[in-house]
Amino acid sequence: MPGRGGRFLSVAIIALSLISAMADVGSPEMSKFCNRPGFPGIPGIPGPPGPVGARGPPGFPGLSGFPGAPGDIAKCSSPKPAFAVKFRDLLPGPSQPIIFKEALLNHQDHFNLTTGVFTCTNPGVYHFGLDIDLFRQVVKLGLMKNGVEVLEKEARAEDHNRHVSGSVILKLLMGDRIWLESKLDTTDTEKGLVQSVFYGHLLYENEEE
Ligand SMILES: *[C@@H]1O[C@H](CO)[C@@H](O)[C@H](O)[C@H]1NC(C)=O
Repeated sequence: MPGRGGRFLSVAIIALSLISAMADVGSPEMSKFCNRPGFPGIPGIPGPPGPVGARGPPGFPGLSGFPGAPGDIAKCSSPKPAFAVKFRDLLPGPSQPIIFKEALLNHQDHFNLTTGVFTCTNPGVYHFGLDIDLFRQVVKLGLMKNGVEVLEKEARAEDHNRHVSGSVILKLLMGDRIWLESKLDTTDTEKGLVQSVFYGHLLYENEEE
């Protein structure tokens, strides 16, 4: 009978399935499969940047550099000769250099304070000048170059102060000598005070000499 046979088959299949399902749940293979991790998820959006950290300590000093190339010797010569000397006394007699006792400036001693003579050691063009204050006095001063007068200044002050100045530009050769001297007899100049400043400086050197 097909009906009876079919029912028996259905019951048998259900029973078998139940048994097999119960066996699957209990088996170690099945629990291992369930606990396995899944695929990694999609990474999230990066967070905002963090705050700026504290400043670190300064680093060690670097190594020193290589020495530079030697400089141009011609252009780093010694300072230009210059002097300014002061006199406050009775003038000496004529035809002799006035000795200036006080040096306001005397680079490299080109002006000799013992002899009162400036000697040229750097040939070139120089500017010389004098500045005189006098009171109850008469002066006549000559600026001399190797014994030849190149500038003369004369002034007379009775009962008042007088100020006289003068300057000259000269081209000097090596060894040329410059000084200031009085052109009057001592007897004429013994009356009062004279204060004088004598100065000179190199304007520029003559390269060819
Ligand atoms: C100044 O001249 C005197 C006399 O010629 C000399 O003895 C002295 O050395 C000179 N001084 C300088 C600084 O050149």
